[in-house]
Amino acid sequence: MKITIKRGNFIDYNFEAVVAVLFEGDKTLKGAALILDRECGGAISDLLAYGDFKGKLFQSAVLYTRGSLPSKRILVMGLGKKEEFDIEKLRGVFSKAAQKIRELHVEKFALSIDLGNTDFSMDKISGAIIEGILLGLYKFTPFKTVDTDKETEIKELTIVEPDPESLDIISSSIKEAEIISGAVYLARDLVSTPSNEMTPTIMAGKACEVASQMGIEIEVLDDVEMGKLEMNTLLAVARGSNEPPKLIVMKYSGGKGGEKPVVLVGKGITFDSGGISIKPSAKMEEMKSDMAGGAAVIATMKAVAGLKLPVNVVGIIPATENLPGGKALKPGDILRSMSGQTVEVINTDAEGRLILADAMTYAHKFKPAAIIDIATLTGSCVIALGDNIIGMMGTDEALKISLKDASEKTGEQVWELPLWREYEELIKSDAADMKNVGNRVAGTITAALFLKKFAGDYPWCHLDIAGPALLAKEKPYIPKGASGVGVRLFVQFLKEWAQKNQ
Ligand code: BES
Ligand code: ZN
Ligand code: ZN
Repeated sequence: MKITIKRGNFIDYNFEAVVAVLFEGDKTLKGAALILDRECGGAISDLLAYGDFKGKLFQSAVLYTRGSLPSKRILVMGLGKKEEFDIEKLRGVFSKAAQKIRELHVEKFALSIDLGNTDFSMDKISGAIIEGILLGLYKFTPFKTVDTDKETEIKELTIVEPDPESLDIISSSIKEAEIISGAVYLARDLVSTPSNEMTPTIMAGKACEVASQMGIEIEVLDDVEMGKLEMNTLLAVARGSNEPPKLIVMKYSGGKGGEKPVVLVGKGITFDSGGISIKPSAKMEEMKSDMAGGAAVIATMKAVAGLKLPVNVVGIIPATENLPGGKALKPGDILRSMSGQTVEVINTDAEGRLILADAMTYAHKFKPAAIIDIATLTGSCVIALGDNIIGMMGTDEALKISLKDASEKTGEQVWELPLWREYEELIKSDAADMKNVGNRVAGTITAALFLKKFAGDYPWCHLDIAGPALLAKEKPYIPKGASGVGVRLFVQFLKEWAQKNQ
């Protein structure tokens, strides 16, 4: 979809459809809605006066202008109550508007960022509108050969703005929203692609494509190189599969030379069968999404380079399948990790922490300012926090506060769980330094405590995205399926990190 800006007003141009928004309970029309209403003889006022439209959040109505203004249709959208309004709702409203426009088979539409007075700045409003629209229109269709022509694609969106001084602000927020949404699309595509088409080798190839497009350094370590580094917990997981594992290492150097990087580590299990501790077959297909953390890291690297953020970032993605082959890891096996610490494997389905352990140890070579890992790590996190929330645990208060702040701004919600010492008892092993699972209680916390042992003394934070990585039900601007969660959170976090370290 091409996005352009035109100076002027709706009434100056001929569009197939224009969008007008109203707050619930507003007695008088404001902003762009007021201008449109005057031109079309009070049709929007009538909607309100007859009680047909109350401006409730996500409510919509289509009006036909019948020659009263150059554009053919007005799509009226409800913003909900003004006192409850926020940027997250705005993303949702415009996503729903764009989905409605697509249902109407309209290929070109227009909108104004003039919502009437709100507490939000113009760049925030325009950024949220464009992000909401782009994210909400995502579809994953490369494997569909039938029913492909049911929905038309929207070809063009025009933003009309009367104030010439606002055009630059709007234009740069559009560019930013396009870069970020493009990265989220990449993450969603990587996750949606089934594991037969998204092996560790293919995933590494995709990371190489991103790197060469964006001018990011990349190195992909194979099993021989990982063997030399004694990455035994990672290699032990990989051994059950015939697909060779890869350790993807991407380096973006937008910050000052010598400035310590933020290292992002993303779990890249391209399929998790559970291994010898095999999973039940119901919903096992969803385990193609077990590389969503890795996908978020690759996509974040793309966005950060696209935005030219002045920060140094390293992305590390341990990528492998977890299968029960003849050489597979077995319960009871004891592994010596790259860090030298030994691990007794009780359950081969707790494989994420095994591959992350070595990837996090590898991260130390960059002397990071912070390590943040992101992983579809535990089913317990979904039980504890539900489908939509990221579980956050970590050792560094400032890092957690920054991530919470980025979370509030992006709507990618995080909730902190504690890493109290008492829980450590649960992963003590009689035979090795630790075991890879506790008993059934506090599964998200024991997984994080396991990872903590590989963070060294570096500020570290862990994000468990088992819930939000793959949505069973759509959200206002996230269609059902792969959500691309983590990308917008990381980009926002790194933007603020860069500002603080300027
Ligand atoms: N990939 C799964 C976690 C997961 C579950 C992600 C559901 C998304 C949705 C992970 O590797 C796993 O299997 N974890 C086990 C750990 C257990 C054996 C301690 C789990 O959560 O059941
Ligand atoms: Zn597993
Ligand atoms: Zn897993």
